[in-house]
Amino acid sequence: MSNPPSVRTAVIPAAGLGTRFLPAAKAVPKELMPILDRPALQWIVEEAVAAGAERIIIVTSAGKEALRRHFAPAPELEQRLADDGKGDLAAAVAAAGALGHRITWVEQPQQKGLGDAVLCAAAAVGEEPFLVLLGDALIRAEVPCSKQLVDAYHRVGGGSVIGLRPVPLERTPRYGIVAGTAVGDCLFKLHDLVEKPHLGSAPSNLAIAGRYLLTPGIFRELRQTRPGVGGEIQLTDAIRALLLREPVHGLVYDGERHDLGNPLDYLDAVVAYALDHPDYAARLRHRLAGQREKAES
Ligand code: G1P
Repeated sequence: MSNPPSVRTAVIPAAGLGTRFLPAAKAVPKELMPILDRPALQWIVEEAVAAGAERIIIVTSAGKEALRRHFAPAPELEQRLADDGKGDLAAAVAAAGALGHRITWVEQPQQKGLGDAVLCAAAAVGEEPFLVLLGDALIRAEVPCSKQLVDAYHRVGGGSVIGLRPVPLERTPRYGIVAGTAVGDCLFKLHDLVEKPHLGSAPSNLAIAGRYLLTPGIFRELRQTRPGVGGEIQLTDAIRALLLREPVHGLVYDGERHDLGNPLDYLDAVVAYALDHPDYAARLRHRLAGQREKAES
């Protein structure tokens, strides 16, 4: 089997307005909402790094400068924390700043859809395969989800790999849905993708779920993709065109996806992360058990 080029780059689209999270997202971009001790976007950047990404391109929009500030170095704050004997906090602040060295910022001038956001990163990515991690989706997994995609990419000898999760059929209209032939454990060779199919017309229950590994061939397709569902340039439509030229696989990854775009799913994510964390789990369980007893009495 051929040896495909290594994956060193990740793109994180984070340009959306966060309308489902207003008014909270008015001044604080939804990607900076905290999940325990760090913003959602930092968890996502860390996932990309854990998958081997050396360069991270964040696609953002006007008014979201706070994203950059989070990853900027803060030597004065670090010094003050160190002087106060808070070395662990100083290290945590330094770690966020260190991630910033890998980040290139790109602006999406107009909100024209996910496909357009990815296309905005074309020059920064160059002629290389790259990961896409949606900035409003956290994936809790033992092996970082993007790493699972990279491993599958090497197993199949290159091409694109799309992260999938099964969803109940009645929820298929909210997602991009794929059709494919099983070629291995949780692995499918895709032959069709449909963005937000009408109820009852989805080709399967396998939804595109927040993570992609794409070849640079996607940029040629994106340049030719016309607005689709919702009048937006859909990444799904470009991948559909790409699979006529190159292999595209789908991997049903191991992990739980949390949409961060609205308060209820966000709350669910915070609780799930807290229950996984040694510093928070016992206290939270205790509290939730107390609430249940109150409700039952
Ligand atoms: C986007 C994609 C869709 C995918 C979904 C979840 O839709 O267009 O194919 O299933 O993310 O990853 P959105 O949620 O932005 O409408």
